[in-house]
Amino acid sequence: MTTELSPSNRETTYPSAYPSGWYHLLDLDALAPGQVKHLEVLGKQLVVFRGRDSGKVSVLDAHCPHQGADLSGGKVKGDCLHCPFHDWSFAGDGRLAAIPGLDKIPRARVRSYPVREYYGMLWMYHDISGDVVTPPYEPQAHPEIDNGEMVYRGQYTPRDVNMHICEFIENSVDFQHFAVLHGHLTIPWTQIRVPGFRVRHQAGWELDPQRPHVAYFLNDPYLIFRGRHLHKTGLHAKITLFGPGSTVWFRFQLPDLGDILMFQTHLPTAPLNQRVKFRYYSHRKVPRALVWYVVGHWISQWRADLEIWENKVMRKRPVLVSLDGPVHKMRRWVKQFYEPKPRVHLEVQRS
Ligand code: FES
Ligand SMILES: [Fe+2]
Repeated sequence: MTTELSPSNRETTYPSAYPSGWYHLLDLDALAPGQVKHLEVLGKQLVVFRGRDSGKVSVLDAHCPHQGADLSGGKVKGDCLHCPFHDWSFAGDGRLAAIPGLDKIPRARVRSYPVREYYGMLWMYHDISGDVVTPPYEPQAHPEIDNGEMVYRGQYTPRDVNMHICEFIENSVDFQHFAVLHGHLTIPWTQIRVPGFRVRHQAGWELDPQRPHVAYFLNDPYLIFRGRHLHKTGLHAKITLFGPGSTVWFRFQLPDLGDILMFQTHLPTAPLNQRVKFRYYSHRKVPRALVWYVVGHWISQWRADLEIWENKVMRKRPVLVSLDGPVHKMRRWVKQFYEPKPRVHLEVQRS
């Protein structure tokens, strides 16, 4: 049975807006030592600051446990954040460090979250319960960036997208839409179609047998020109879905040249609003213009989905046919990020 839904009901058709996973909060170059920022993301008010002495970045709940002032109006001295209201200071782990004029201070703290500085990005682990937990897995290292074989090539931040975070992963198993929305060759970074060409996709989707939080979307697109398959235009793309769609990376393999590695991250600032960022690296041998072309081509394909994502609802029981991809397999996998699990809470949370 089909139900009529007004746009204001879109949100109610989706699962929780903030599933468990690692999230890209901000780019590290946007946070100098001593700098403080307020963030309203993941259904939370957070304060992010970088210590002056250690250079370490910390993320805390934004409001002071004393009288509730917003700590993001405060100042960093040494490695502590000072509240703007009565100048209590807090260490990066959220512990109350000092109260001016008082020797014996109470044991108090503000919640602090697990963070990692990861290839120019600040990642924070968020649990669906909203509480602080020990992350069940770590962000994956990329040795080719660590050892300098791959180099930074750029980043791109589009406008926010009015969609639920689950839609990106839902899209990866939706094999039927490739021909409709992604079947045209477009000028990179635009929606302008190049006449005469079609793009065919050979898609696959699989789970990582070792790591339960990882799945892969595989695609080998190639070009058709006036009905002829252009054999030399093949490109192999492996997309790693790392968690609930918050952090994804693409590996584009270019024969004889090397690879492009691109991170795509989604940060929910509201149930149906994603801040999206792209950050890309490549082997040194890959010319910059080719990186620009391949990344731009992906951005064009990504943009082709926006109008659908920004207006659709989620069908809990979609009518599926044999042309659809493994929707049920994907949904069984993704469920793990939407279920709070009993875990050992960090020691720092006990006040
Ligand atoms: S409200 Fe923060 S120190 Fe009083
Ligand atoms: Fe798509």
